Amino acid sequence: MGYVSDVMTPDEFKLFRDLIHNECGIFLKEEKRDFLKMRVEKRLKTLSIGSYFNYYRYVKDERNRRELSSLLDSITINETYFFRNTPQFEILRERVIPELIERKRKAGDYNLMAWSAGCATGEEPYSIAIEILEAIPDISRWNVQIIASDISWRCIETGQKGVYSGEKLKDVPPEYLAKYFIYSDESYQVSDNVKRLVIFDFHNLKHENGLTEVDVVFCRNVMIYFDIEEQKRIVARFQKVLNTDGYLFLGHAESLQGIANGDFRFLYLNKGTAYQKVNPA
Ligand SMILES: C[S@@+](CC[C@H](N)C(=O)[O-])C[C@H]1O[C@@H](n2cnc3c(N)ncnc32)[C@H](O)[C@@H]1O
Repeated sequence: MGYVSDVMTPDEFKLFRDLIHNECGIFLKEEKRDFLKMRVEKRLKTLSIGSYFNYYRYVKDERNRRELSSLLDSITINETYFFRNTPQFEILRERVIPELIERKRKAGDYNLMAWSAGCATGEEPYSIAIEILEAIPDISRWNVQIIASDISWRCIETGQKGVYSGEKLKDVPPEYLAKYFIYSDESYQVSDNVKRLVIFDFHNLKHENGLTEVDVVFCRNVMIYFDIEEQKRIVARFQKVLNTDGYLFLGHAESLQGIANGDFRFLYLNKGTAYQKVNPA
């Protein structure tokens, strides 16, 4: 491989920043230049390409879509753990699921769908699955689907395996640990009845995925990396796929303020927050 410059020029940074933004909505601010440089450099080394610009041309080539996937994967932040932001899971267990299943039972509808959009390595959708198992006594009557989607193949693969180190389970209540995890070889395997409810899907939030009639969307700590226009587009999509009175959970540093006025009602319960889609007028 030839010499790779120590410096990513402002123009090179802009090329990659705009490419990434166009492809997946993540907007890297100027202060992320070193971060981007390090990630791109790794890709250059893997492919033995000698300059940022040559790599840019390579990754832009339609024939190299796989490499584009790898680049996008490499710049994602995948931090997550089970029951992250526990008050939101309390809302899910104590308010959202009971309300949804009561309404659906009355209508003779035994389908329940949740979407963990930007699920990273799967801890979030599995936490949702556990709360659903806890909250629905006659679970065998129900068709429950939790769609777990992410733009990172690495994450999807980890999620599908469902094996985690102890640090990812620090917020799991002891009774859940005993009930829904199998400890072996110093790690924890999610039990089959939980796994069965979760369907992993490689999906870029920039594009449609055909989901409809979703009851609950979790999209936490994902939109924080997007610019406001992209956030608006994504929330509009959630609004479209959610059933009326369905719920949307965002991360603790995210909100719908200035993004979706009037489409959702804000809920604050025991320090947890969520949004409920309101009836069309
Ligand atoms: C910080 S993690 C959040 C994980 C989990 N939702 C949580 O709150 O613990 C953000 C995830 O969003 C994913 N992501 C970023 N941009 C995306 C996009 N355009 N489409 C789908 N997933 C995306 C990343 O790959 C990453 O796994």
